[in-house]
Amino acid sequence: MRIGPIGENLLERVAVLLRLGPRPLLETHGTLLLAQALMVATKTGVFEALADSALTPGQTASLCGTDERATARLLRVLEATGYVRAATGGEYSLTADARRWLLKDSSHSLHDNVLFRFVEWDWIGRLEGFVRSGRPLDIHAEMTGHQWELYQRGMRSLAGALAREVVLRTPVPRGARTMLDIGGSHGFFAVALCRCHRGLRAQILDLPEAVTRAAPILAREGLGDRVVHRAGDARMAEFGIETFDLILISNLIHHLDQAESRDVIWRAAGALRRGGVLVIQEFFAPSATGYAGQAAALADLYFALTSESGTQSFEDLAAWQKEAGLAPRKPIRFLSFPGAGQQNAVKPR
Ligand SMILES: C[S@@+](CC[C@H](N)C(=O)[O-])C[C@H]1O[C@@H](n2cnc3c(N)ncnc32)[C@H](O)[C@@H]1O
Repeated sequence: MRIGPIGENLLERVAVLLRLGPRPLLETHGTLLLAQALMVATKTGVFEALADSALTPGQTASLCGTDERATARLLRVLEATGYVRAATGGEYSLTADARRWLLKDSSHSLHDNVLFRFVEWDWIGRLEGFVRSGRPLDIHAEMTGHQWELYQRGMRSLAGALAREVVLRTPVPRGARTMLDIGGSHGFFAVALCRCHRGLRAQILDLPEAVTRAAPILAREGLGDRVVHRAGDARMAEFGIETFDLILISNLIHHLDQAESRDVIWRAAGALRRGGVLVIQEFFAPSATGYAGQAAALADLYFALTSESGTQSFEDLAAWQKEAGLAPRKPIRFLSFPGAGQQNAVKPR
C-alpha cells in the first residue's frame, strides 16, 4: 500500500498519467490536512455521534460540542475520503470503513491508535533535526504520563486488528505451557494466544512506565493470573534458562540498536525450552538490494527518528536467531498488515 495521487474521474486520471497534477502539494498540504481532519474527527467524537443515526452537521456539532460551520466542512472532507456519506436531506451517516476502523467498540477499532497521532505529530515535526544531525529522539525517555497512556492504548488498538492473524500464524508448540512476551505492552497477543491454547500462561515484560499504563488495559481482558505483567528493561532483564515454550518479541526490535537486538535474541534463545519457538514480529525493512515499497521506507524512517535503529531485515533477524543456536523458519508476511510479519525460529531438541 502507498500514498499517492489517485484521479477521481477520467480527466484527473489522464492528468496523473501525464504528470500534470501538483503531486508534492497533494503529498504535503493534502496529507497534513487529511491526517488532522481524521485525528480531530476521532478526538471530538464525530464518528461516535453518527454511530446510531444519521445526523445533520448542526446535530453532529451539538452532540460533539463543536462549531457547526467548521464541523460541516470537516464532514465534507470525511465524505470525500469515504468515511461518511451524505443523504439528500443533508444528513451524514457512517460508511462501513468508518464503522470497522474508527468506532471505539469495533473489533478492528483503530480509534485509540488514531488518538496516538497527536503525540506522534510533535515527533514527526522534529524530522528535520534528525536528518541534519542524525541524532534520533529517545521517545521512551521523554514521554509524559499522558503520552505513555496514549501510546499503550494506541498499541492495544492496533493489536486488536492483528490478533486473529497472529493467533493463526504463530507456531505454538504442542502442549505449550509458558510464554514470555518481551516489550509486550498491553499483552493482547498473549491474551489471544492463551484463549486459544488452554494450558498456556504468559508473562508480559515491559518498561515500568508502560506497565503502569498497560495494567488496566490487560486487566479488562479478565485472564487474571494467566497473563501477568513484569516491569523491566529487555536490555538487562533476566529471561531465565530453558523456562519458556514460546517467546514473542513484537515491535520491539525496531527500538533497539543492532548489538542490543542480537543480545536480546541470544538471551531469549537461552530462555527457550528445547522445541520452543521464538517469534519475532516486525515491520519488513526496506531491502538494500530490492524495492520494498513506500510503507516499509516510511516505517524505517519513523523508527530511526523515534528510537535508535529503524527496521532490521528479516535476513539479519534469521542470522541472529541462527547465531543463537535456533533453527530459523521462512518469514511469514501478514495479510491483515501488509509490510509486517513474523520471523520465527525453533530451538532444536
Ligand atoms: C511499539 S510497542 C509494541 C507493543 C506490543 N509488543 C505490540 O506489538 O503491540 C513497543 C513496546 O516496547 C516497549 N519497550 C521499549 N523499549 C523497551 C525496553 N528496553 N525494554 C522493555 N520494553 C521496551 C515499549 O514500552 C512498548 O510498550
